[in-house]
Amino acid sequence: MAITFNKYDFDGKVVIVTGSARGIGRAIARAFCENGAKVVAVDLNLEGAQETVAGFEGSCAMACNIADEEACKDLVESVVEKYGRLDVLMNNAGIFTQAPVTDMPASDWHKLFSVNVDSMFYLTKYAMPYLIETKGNIVQTASVNGLGGDYMSWAYNATKHAVVGMVRSLCIDYGEKGVRINAVAPAMTATDMNRSVWSVPEKVAPFIERIPMNRIGQVEDIARAVMFLASEDAGYITGQVLCVDGGVTASDGQAPGEYDEKL
Ligand SMILES: NC(=O)c1ccc[n+]([C@@H]2O[C@H](COP(=O)([O-])OP(=O)(O)OC[C@H]3O[C@@H](n4cnc5c(N)ncnc54)[C@H](O)[C@@H]3O)[C@@H](O)[C@H]2O)c1
Repeated sequence: MAITFNKYDFDGKVVIVTGSARGIGRAIARAFCENGAKVVAVDLNLEGAQETVAGFEGSCAMACNIADEEACKDLVESVVEKYGRLDVLMNNAGIFTQAPVTDMPASDWHKLFSVNVDSMFYLTKYAMPYLIETKGNIVQTASVNGLGGDYMSWAYNATKHAVVGMVRSLCIDYGEKGVRINAVAPAMTATDMNRSVWSVPEKVAPFIERIPMNRIGQVEDIARAVMFLASEDAGYITGQVLCVDGGVTASDGQAPGEYDEKL
């Protein structure tokens, strides 16, 4: 079954998707492929990225450590050399680390920022001239963690707030040049990143209890929102953070009080 219910027109468009050897990035990359794009699946894990685009003619995989500025520059140059253009930059790859603030080694903090934030700066920097040529767009994977606070996630949340801040400011600089910049903000989504939580019923139950739609997200939910934001259907949308969260961020966090029975 195809990932998107609607058909989007990405025929002939060239799309970079980072972190696409598995998880949310893999679903996004495949959704772009299914809708006609030539996808460059980027990951540290080349084999996984190759598997993502296997069978999709015109798409390919490239290995890249997106935390390294030179590697990002080489990546963008290689893509443009191979395909002659770039239409969409999907900055998706990210990592997660949790610890009390008193226990986190500075190296973990710096690694979080280098993968989750610096990479988005590097790739945007080198891709932007080509996106201006095609009037293309950027979609970043932020998180609901970039819009509020969470238990023990102060460092990861700081990175995702930075991603949201980039989106909201870059859109102002590049709107006139025709380049749109948006983000998706997933809540808990079933991937390898957090398998230790969602695969254990007692651990995932408190999450589900707070989700109005009564289930955690699936990678396809996120990919569908990305397809819309990257498509011409979103042609007048920029600087937005689209929550794909089953309604989690609609709540102000208060307890149900005396109305604790489900309807
Ligand atoms: N899973 C969730 O619940 C959730 C919720 C909100 C936001 N997110 C965000 O969604 C994005 C994707 O998350 P996921 O759950 O699919 O994660 P994942 O761990 O399943 O996949 C991440 C991919 O990124 C790649 N990667 C990591 N560091 C890299 C680097 N330096 N260079 C290149 N590739 C690298 C990994 O090899 C992996 O293939 C991340 O930005 C994450 O923060 C995830």
